[in-house]
Amino acid sequence: MASFFGLKIGSFQPIFFLGLVLAYHVVILVEGGRDIASRLSEEEDLELETQLSILNKSPIKTIHAYWGDIYDCIEFHKQPAFDHPLLKNRTITTPKRDEIASTRPHKTSVMSQIEGCPKGTVPIRRTTKEDLMRAKYLSSSSNSPGDEYFAGITVQTEGERYFGASGSANVWNPKVISYQSSGAEISLIAGPIEHANVIRFGWTVDPELYGDNVTRSYTYWTSDSGYTTGCYNTLCPGFVQVHPTYTPFLHFNKTSVIGGEQIQLLSSIQMDPENGHWWLTMDNTTKVGYWPKDLFTQFQLGAEYVYWGGRVRSGKDGIAPEMASGEKLDDFPNHVGYYAALNYTNEVEGDWIPVQKGPISFDCKGYYDASWKYSEDHVLMYGGPGGPCA
Ligand SMILES: *[C@@H]1O[C@H](CO)[C@@H](O)[C@H](O)[C@H]1NC(C)=O
Ligand SMILES: *[C@@H]1O[C@H](CO)[C@@H](O)[C@H](O)[C@H]1NC(C)=O
Ligand SMILES: *[C@@H]1O[C@H](CO)[C@@H](O)[C@H](O)[C@H]1NC(C)=O
Ligand SMILES: *[C@@H]1O[C@H](CO)[C@@H](O)[C@H](O)[C@H]1NC(C)=O
Ligand SMILES: *[C@@H]1O[C@H](CO)[C@@H](O)[C@H](O)[C@H]1NC(C)=O
Repeated sequence: MASFFGLKIGSFQPIFFLGLVLAYHVVILVEGGRDIASRLSEEEDLELETQLSILNKSPIKTIHAYWGDIYDCIEFHKQPAFDHPLLKNRTITTPKRDEIASTRPHKTSVMSQIEGCPKGTVPIRRTTKEDLMRAKYLSSSSNSPGDEYFAGITVQTEGERYFGASGSANVWNPKVISYQSSGAEISLIAGPIEHANVIRFGWTVDPELYGDNVTRSYTYWTSDSGYTTGCYNTLCPGFVQVHPTYTPFLHFNKTSVIGGEQIQLLSSIQMDPENGHWWLTMDNTTKVGYWPKDLFTQFQLGAEYVYWGGRVRSGKDGIAPEMASGEKLDDFPNHVGYYAALNYTNEVEGDWIPVQKGPISFDCKGYYDASWKYSEDHVLMYGGPGGPCA
């Protein structure tokens, strides 16, 4: 495998490389798929077709979601995660049925829902040619990536390790234009900055990743700060989908209203004491899937710090988008972005420990802000209108 998408990638398999491409936070052309398609050479076109045939396995059942996505129900052990070189030769432990607390769509869920996949299969969003074309431009861009800005809270204590983190975020639909993205997340991080292991779950509006302005949840992981590994959702091997109806790709068809109804996303990431894998749980009990421990080099002893808060990416012009509601902080959590019920565990199988305080930080003063509200619940408030941060 000499070259794929025009880059030399040594002995990596092409399917793995798709993950690498998607891991880079660099700009791509946000154009109509047709414009890009017309500029593909026959050879490039063939490459994409080959990729699609590798990523999209033969389904047991196909689900057409009302918002346009297609989900294929794939046998659990055949899902793309297990094409990862580090997972290929592992014994796959199929999760026990009772590990999946809820197999039916949640009545109270704030996420869009798909009907369940048959027993033994999991829903994997079908990758489209447009997805791959955006990925292709991720790798071929000679433009410099936009900068990232944060506003949130970090829990980190010398000598302490973290085996889980949870919180409840309100969900917004910030305005973004080409190249920008805006969202919020829980991240667990370990290792030196240039080779950091990261597990992340949150919501985002990211036209580069999704091709539209819709608010969706997402998962991300890397074992070297995104240099050579990493992946969003099930777009490349890594995250193991377990739940038959919830997937990280789902969108919010409703988002929070300033001073009004708050749409909340309750989630946790926690190490499984039995096998060291890292589980993603939503709505407090719904186990969505896991990141196998084999993907990581630094998480055996737990994470070194946890971050809750906002993340935005500026466009090429250095202008950074709205964060959360786009409002400046005032006294009311329901006017801005918040994370409530922040908890962490500092032992394997340890109890949840409520976050009392931690360093609040925010980039781009004047445009973003974060604060810790002590009264009643402990709540992180963050957000801002964005602007010329560069
Ligand atoms: C998988 O592991 C087994 C036992 O460790 C080994 O015999 C086999 O050759 C491996 N297969 C591949 C494809 O690496
Ligand atoms: C939003 O999602 C719910 C749950 O799947 C669905 O019942 C409802 O029709 C959706 N609303 C819109 C406006 O799409
Ligand atoms: C995103 O929103 C902007 C306006 O807010 C709109 O101009 C643009 O077309 C939207 N992009 C997509 C892909 O929907
Ligand atoms: C999640 O569930 C546990 C146990 O059922 C409960 O103690 C906890 O308060 C719940 N957390 C939230 C944020 O609702
Ligand atoms: C987490 O912390 C909050 C208080 O900050 C608490 O209300 C909540 O129930 C805790 N537990 C869980 C499991 O979320």
